[in-house]
Amino acid sequence: MSDLDFETPDPNLKSIITHDTLKWIFVGGKGGVGKTTSSSSISIQLALNNPNKQYLLISTDPAHNLSDAFGEKFGKDARKVTGMDNLSCMEIDPTSTIEDLSADVDMDGNNPLKGMMADLTSSIPGIDEALSFMEVIKHIKNQNSTEKAEISYDTIIFDTAPTGHTLRFLQLPQTFSKLLAKFDELAGQFGGLLGSMGGVDTNSMMNKMTELKELTKLINEQFTDPDVTTFVVVCIAEFLSLYESERLIQELNSYGIDVNTIIVNQLLFTQKEDPCKRCQARSKMQNKYLGEMDELYEDFHLVKMPLVNTEVRGLEKLTKFSKFLVEPYVPGGSVDLD
Ligand SMILES: Nc1ncnc2c1ncn2[C@@H]1O[C@H](COP(=O)(O)OP(=O)(O)OP(=O)(O)O)[C@@H](O)[C@H]1O
Ligand SMILES: [Mg+2]
Ligand SMILES: [Zn+2]
Repeated sequence: MSDLDFETPDPNLKSIITHDTLKWIFVGGKGGVGKTTSSSSISIQLALNNPNKQYLLISTDPAHNLSDAFGEKFGKDARKVTGMDNLSCMEIDPTSTIEDLSADVDMDGNNPLKGMMADLTSSIPGIDEALSFMEVIKHIKNQNSTEKAEISYDTIIFDTAPTGHTLRFLQLPQTFSKLLAKFDELAGQFGGLLGSMGGVDTNSMMNKMTELKELTKLINEQFTDPDVTTFVVVCIAEFLSLYESERLIQELNSYGIDVNTIIVNQLLFTQKEDPCKRCQARSKMQNKYLGEMDELYEDFHLVKMPLVNTEVRGLEKLTKFSKFLVEPYVPGGSVDLD
């Protein structure tokens, strides 16, 4: 493409909302910037604009904030949002999976397998998150493939944990390669023992490892395909948040994960005639960083979301807020969601 052909991408989320092939949408960023609000809003817009498709929004954050955002309780099994026909939510506890896996070898306190599991999980950072993520994918795959499943999901949206977690979590193909290598090594070492130990379900462990291999392959193929997977970065117009977002984007690039949309949240858009000095000062700072972002991210969809007058909680408020993802807020317009 020549310079003449270049156009700044629309400052909205339309390309994602109208996309026909996306299966995985990750939403991530620093703590408290509005990841849960954004991922919920994106999901609502997807669901409203594509009534024939089914969407699943998953929180992998131990803080489990989807229930808070929607004001209704979600758990580890997907359940539809009250008032929506084609949007379900699910909250996963990342700590429970690794415990499940360890439980297989916990029956006999002194067996070498137990040591092996401890060895495995302590030698590879991020393995617990990676394993729990695998469990999520498996869960979804099972839901999609069994006949008894009522719903098969077209697109899955992830409300990820704050940045540090997200980055480790995206290394999972590499993490699993290490895990599997380690497992093979240890399995070789304990080869004779594995089959002969009473009370230990070695088959179940072997099956898990095989499953992990298959899923790692799936993730390697799908997560690096921009038609199938994309990552939406959420930030606020402040130095630290920008800095972390840039790091996140570079990291995503290094994994080959597509990222073309940044949501800048909680913007004041203070008008000149506003007498409040504090808002004026803050807005000026935000504008400075927005200007930098406009330059740095000219080939991204840069979506600017207003700070509204209330917490964005419950389907009604989220739906109103989500409209700004499609028709951007015009400075001076209402920031009431009631
Ligand atoms: N644009 C906005 N205007 C007003 N309130 C907002 C806006 N965006 C988010 N909030 C509120 O800010 C709080 C934090 O938002 P949210 O939970 O989406 O952040 P988060 O990035 O998911 O946080 P965490 O890292 O803790 O998971 C919530 O109470 C939410 O309602
Ligand atoms: Mg959150
Ligand atoms: Zn003010």
